[in-house]
Amino acid sequence: MKTLIKNGRIITAVDDYHADIFIDGETIETIGKNLTMEADKVIDARGKLVIPGGIDAHTHMDMPFGGTTSADDFKTGTLAAAHGGTTTIIDFAIQTKGQSIMEALDIWHKKADGKTAIDYSFHMIVTDLPKTRIPELRKLINNEGVTSFKLFMAYPGVLLVDDATIYRAMSLAGEEGALVCMHAENGVVINEIIERALEKGHTAPKFHALTRPTKAEAEGVNRAIALAEMAESPVYIVHLSSHDALKKVQEARDYGIPAFAETCPQYLFLDYSYYEKENFEGSKYVMTPPLRDKCNQKELWTGLRMNDLQVISTDHCPFCFKEQKELGRDDFTKIPNGGPGVENRMSLVFNGGVKEGRISLNRFVELTSTNAAKIFGLFPRKGTIAVGSDADIVIFDPDKKMTISAKTHHMRVDYSCYEGFDVTGVTETVLSRGKIIIDKGKYVGKEGHGSFLRRSKVDLSTGSPVSLQKQEALARN
Ligand code: URP
Ligand code: ZN
Ligand code: ZN
Repeated sequence: MKTLIKNGRIITAVDDYHADIFIDGETIETIGKNLTMEADKVIDARGKLVIPGGIDAHTHMDMPFGGTTSADDFKTGTLAAAHGGTTTIIDFAIQTKGQSIMEALDIWHKKADGKTAIDYSFHMIVTDLPKTRIPELRKLINNEGVTSFKLFMAYPGVLLVDDATIYRAMSLAGEEGALVCMHAENGVVINEIIERALEKGHTAPKFHALTRPTKAEAEGVNRAIALAEMAESPVYIVHLSSHDALKKVQEARDYGIPAFAETCPQYLFLDYSYYEKENFEGSKYVMTPPLRDKCNQKELWTGLRMNDLQVISTDHCPFCFKEQKELGRDDFTKIPNGGPGVENRMSLVFNGGVKEGRISLNRFVELTSTNAAKIFGLFPRKGTIAVGSDADIVIFDPDKKMTISAKTHHMRVDYSCYEGFDVTGVTETVLSRGKIIIDKGKYVGKEGHGSFLRRSKVDLSTGSPVSLQKQEALARN
């Protein structure tokens, strides 16, 4: 299939110009002015932005949590992502305690294989790493293309790992060129605070937020960075939500420590007041870390502008209000943690970031696509518009308006965190590896089009991605 995209305004992390793009098969063949190649399909992108497909580096499809399972599976979740202009997700596979890491990976492959509308990759959540499992982790990185893993300082008894395990994993990551993604919150202290709240009969959703202070997040971030420094490894803080936590990342980066971090739309556009909603509606926003006081938002935007935060992902982890969030009607600790967002990210960030004058167009692309590709070993195959890159392209209408609603979204969840939000900037057409999968807002792709992406190791001290093949060739010589 040959496709010609004419007359668009191409925006990458660094470029902004008008040109045509010729796609032959899955990749971009030529970019130039007034291209005249024969094509099976010509798309007129006049007046539209032509941007790299979004990369959401943090999703949880089909994930067991809190006695239930996230409402989107790899079929519904990736279809919703495509509608919103995201062409790659990096989802989290989970190793349960005592389980082999390879077995966990296999389970997640089975969940996703043949079901996705867009390309996908995995991070591995490691919950159990005795020394005897180190070879398995090396295999994961070197043979399976899973070059990042997530560790939890929160959820004691379920996902939390101790500092020795964190140090062990980070040392290995540093040695191998892999990356530890850290859920940074002092879960042990938080559990103490929760116990005291429950003893006082504080069971409403708002107590989820009130028992998880920003200081607990900042302490986790501080410890994660210190451990990474000792282990001589980079570290990536996931879903950073507060100014207190951001200050720790800023301080480290000012000293030249390779600390990286993402935030999410919910922390940029929603705040603590949502927990005060009547009729248990506050449960819709029970996610970890919780929504913070509004004053944090301005600081997070500064962090995004100044590159102390490099990525905006969603932490998409939807649970329906009915029957799932309702599990915690009498006790906020039983509300499954997480919220939907994979479909809304690009429009929310464009509207709240670019339209409202907080970030440039180039920075928008960098935060929603390019930096994730670079940090997680997908660049330059993904995350840019360049000759030879995958033709993952979004034709984005910067002037079109939309009202976000659960009535019209494609995520398989019965509410939207952003219900009634008016946004300007809408995904119109989406190509995934050269195939049109969204055509003027309509899904025209097919289940199973998406491929698993083996990711490269990345040297985050220089920021240059080192491909697995190149590593292997170097090792052979
Ligand atoms: O509330 C959240 N974030 N649920 C998903 C699990 C996690 O910690 O990312
Ligand atoms: Zn987390
Ligand atoms: Zn998450």
